[in-house]
Amino acid sequence: MTKQPYYITTPIYYPSANLHIGHTYCTVNTDALARYKRLTGHEVYFLTGADEHGQKIERKAEEKGVTPQQYVDDIVKGFHSLWELLDISNDGFVRTTDDYHIACVQKVFKKLYEQGDIYKSSYKGKYCTPCESFWTETQLKESGGVCPDCGRPVEEVEEESYFLRVSKYAPRLIEYINEHPEFIQPASRAKEMLNNFLLPGLEDLCVSRSTFKWGVPVDFDDKHVIYVWFDAVLNYLSKLGYLSENDEKFKKFWPADVHIVGKEIVRFHTIVWPIMLMALGLPLPKQVYGHGWLVLNGKKMGKSTGNVVDPVKLVARYGVDAIRYFLLSEFTFGQDGNFDNETLITRINSDLANDLGNLLSRTVAMIEKYFGGVVPAPDCPVPEEDEPVVSLAKGLAARVEDAMNAIHPNEALAEIFKLIRISNKYIDVTAPWILAKDEAKRERLGTVLYNLAESMRIAGVALQPFLTRTSPKIFEQLGVTDEELKSFDSIAEFGALPAGTKVVKGEALFPRIDLKKELEYLETLLPKAEEKPAEPEEKKDGKPAGDTPEKPGQLPEITYDDFAKLDLRLAKVVACEEVKKSKKLLKCTLDLAGEQRTVLSGIKNWYKPEDLVGKTIVVVANLAPRVMAGIESRGMILCASDEGDVHLSALTTMSEMESGLKVR
Ligand code: ME8
Repeated sequence: MTKQPYYITTPIYYPSANLHIGHTYCTVNTDALARYKRLTGHEVYFLTGADEHGQKIERKAEEKGVTPQQYVDDIVKGFHSLWELLDISNDGFVRTTDDYHIACVQKVFKKLYEQGDIYKSSYKGKYCTPCESFWTETQLKESGGVCPDCGRPVEEVEEESYFLRVSKYAPRLIEYINEHPEFIQPASRAKEMLNNFLLPGLEDLCVSRSTFKWGVPVDFDDKHVIYVWFDAVLNYLSKLGYLSENDEKFKKFWPADVHIVGKEIVRFHTIVWPIMLMALGLPLPKQVYGHGWLVLNGKKMGKSTGNVVDPVKLVARYGVDAIRYFLLSEFTFGQDGNFDNETLITRINSDLANDLGNLLSRTVAMIEKYFGGVVPAPDCPVPEEDEPVVSLAKGLAARVEDAMNAIHPNEALAEIFKLIRISNKYIDVTAPWILAKDEAKRERLGTVLYNLAESMRIAGVALQPFLTRTSPKIFEQLGVTDEELKSFDSIAEFGALPAGTKVVKGEALFPRIDLKKELEYLETLLPKAEEKPAEPEEKKDGKPAGDTPEKPGQLPEITYDDFAKLDLRLAKVVACEEVKKSKKLLKCTLDLAGEQRTVLSGIKNWYKPEDLVGKTIVVVANLAPRVMAGIESRGMILCASDEGDVHLSALTTMSEMESGLKVR
């Protein structure tokens, strides 16, 4: 069988500080996708790396009194050891200070200059150094003058610069995005790119700097270094040998199947990068997937804000697979998720120690006890009582495949754990220890234990991309040595495990841990509230307040306890005005049973202030406060809207009700 090439990438991270659990989240998920593709017969190239140029790095090195190269060399060593620690299976690691990369960036810059897609002019405007981003006056107007991505102050810069003719390619890009709905995922991010950036009109992008030195020099004009984002995105080509003597990998793997990136850099990957590729006459990546952020107490974890969790310490205490499992299972990949210590420990105990660990140890122990450690032969055909387990196990490969192809690793894992849970239930229902007491039921007992061993094998195979250390332990205890029985193909049908296989009891996969003790330990890892550096305001990723979730019907199931965390209240709008600095926001003063509070809502396009005054609406009253356009909003007004937000309506009550009442 010829192997299909599959090219997958993470962002290349800034070595401006050590990486934290947010970077680990992205890389571990990308790793699971890469491993899954290898397991299903693809020839995978998985690339990660370091984005080492730019003013931010230059300043950090200066503060430390070392050269920028020394500074990044030191931190990048830590990248390598972190990825090794977490069993990251990347095939390549690109550094933007590597010679082949610099040569590629210079050649691309020159080519685009020579063909007229880059031209020289002068730039006067605003720059955010931490994000290495230029912002136009229009963009800054909406954000109240601060960087729309991170909320920090921007700096005035004026210099002679080179510009990329982004405006020339924008209409083609708009058409491309409209014709390729799979290109930007989740789909809500495509809408955001079109509505917030492309449709309002793009200005040409400044792609060189002359006020600092730490970058790839423009080889025909050495006063200038190339803009760090222009340099960075080219890593996806340079590592494949594009424009070099050996471009075999480029020929095999380009276009990329998917760039996995955080949602804040979807803009660079779906606007600037495709336009560069169009100018080069190259095909665009098949997909850019913008994953959500890990947040801590409502704020994005970030290197510069210091509210970060150190993955090295977590792995040292709980092991690689526990941390991989938590990062792969707990968060819906396209959405933000709160990093919570208690959930971490509970998941290790309930999913890994109880569900997975117990299933294996009970299965192996019973085969040892009742069949001398030899897997018995099952009944044929499958008895009715066994149908639920058998059919779930049989369909697992297809469900995992669907979830992984949709870049939803958390859903794939949830499917595997469904099988693990139903298998545990099957033990309780069939009660093998009772069957064992009756010699006449020996065959039935054999079938039950065979089904358990085979389900466990199937789960073990499917878990390989996720739990790199645990699957081999499962195979060892089940006595599965034949490589064929570890292959993804072998789980398309139920029953590949040969009767007669010899099981061997081993150590518990995941010992249970003490919740209280671990919570105390985990508390010590976080910076104390008073030590935390001041956090910048954060913009809700370009979405207006009161925006609807990604796609109705796509959210995972929640429990009543999850729902009960929402404090939904009726509120009366007592005053309302437009927020001058913003195109979208209305500032509402709400009355909640006598308490007055300010809530901002991105509904200016649909309502005039006077439409709302006097109305009773529904508000999320316990949402963490958020500053937008310089005003603190304490809550969110609930609205319903259709795809594309053509029609939008704020929710209200059918009859007159008092403000402050709970909605439940
Ligand atoms: O942006 N939650 O590098 P960077 C989830 N060099 N993911 C997070 C996260 C969090 N709290 N914090 C960071 C850059 N990430 C550029 C990229 S690519 C050509 C250049 C992850 O070091 C997430 O994937 O700031 C995000 O996009 C990336 O780290 C940003 O890393």
